[in-house]
Amino acid sequence: MRTVTKDTITQAFLDYCGAETDPRLRFVLEKFVTHLHDFVRETNLTHAEWRKGLELIEKAGDITTPERNEFVLMSDVLGLSSLVDMVNSPDEGTPSSVLGPFHILGAPDLPVGGDMKQDNEGAAVIVSGKVCDPEGAPIKGAEIEVWQTADNGLYSNQDNSQAEYNLRCHLVLGDDGIYKLSTIRPAPYTVPDDGPVGELLHATGRHPWRPSHLHFIITAPGYRSLVTEVFPSDDPYLDEDAVFGVRERLVMEYVEQSDVIAIPDGMEIAERLQAPFFTVDFDFVLTEEKA
Ligand code: BEZ
Ligand code: FE
Repeated sequence: MRTVTKDTITQAFLDYCGAETDPRLRFVLEKFVTHLHDFVRETNLTHAEWRKGLELIEKAGDITTPERNEFVLMSDVLGLSSLVDMVNSPDEGTPSSVLGPFHILGAPDLPVGGDMKQDNEGAAVIVSGKVCDPEGAPIKGAEIEVWQTADNGLYSNQDNSQAEYNLRCHLVLGDDGIYKLSTIRPAPYTVPDDGPVGELLHATGRHPWRPSHLHFIITAPGYRSLVTEVFPSDDPYLDEDAVFGVRERLVMEYVEQSDVIAIPDGMEIAERLQAPFFTVDFDFVLTEEKA
């Protein structure tokens, strides 16, 4: 070991892993450390630069709380969260996208066709579609969770003026896989940029905006759970999302309606919405658990 050099240190590290090391752990660690060591060699990283990097990590630790995780945000703005999503998204299903830090457990149940908009200000939208398999057949037993920002660009857990579960709901779908709810057009918003991640964004001339979006978690027995987001085609930040969450297949269209459209009996939306409002039709495709 005393003969270790910059060219042999990577192998020296790998040789430290004992025979009992889990094979997957060994493989992942081997790749991780090899890339890290190559990074230092290729950049000729200086002590000052490495200290700066460590300071960034330290500041992320200082600012992280149960409500705000700067490490996750760092992974998001570096494109790592999205890359992990992409390598794990089956080709034939709806792509997954970042969960983000504003999801909370316990969203209230809403019947299919229910009113999530309530008294929120903003342009009214009816969002509907179906949850189906790759052949287009409806999936039985699907459940959907939805959450989004209010008109001021804030989630309920960022804004004391909103009720705890404002613009959040959970729908249990029927055998037809159809979902439908009323809401408002969510607003674009910025990721928190008052910490080390913001420093990084500003130092590289990047802005902290995300295009507006609706978050969804969709589950169904026997199918891979889908965590995703859907973005309107006319959003100004669609092609410059700070966290790389947009995919072509996650883009939706707002269609303006000037007439009150017929809504089947038993749905709450009809009493609440007056034209003009928007509709969005978006289907989700789930793939089988073991596919
Ligand atoms: C969000 O969509 O809520 C979000 C995602 C990543 C970072 C910050 C916010
Ligand atoms: Fe979000």
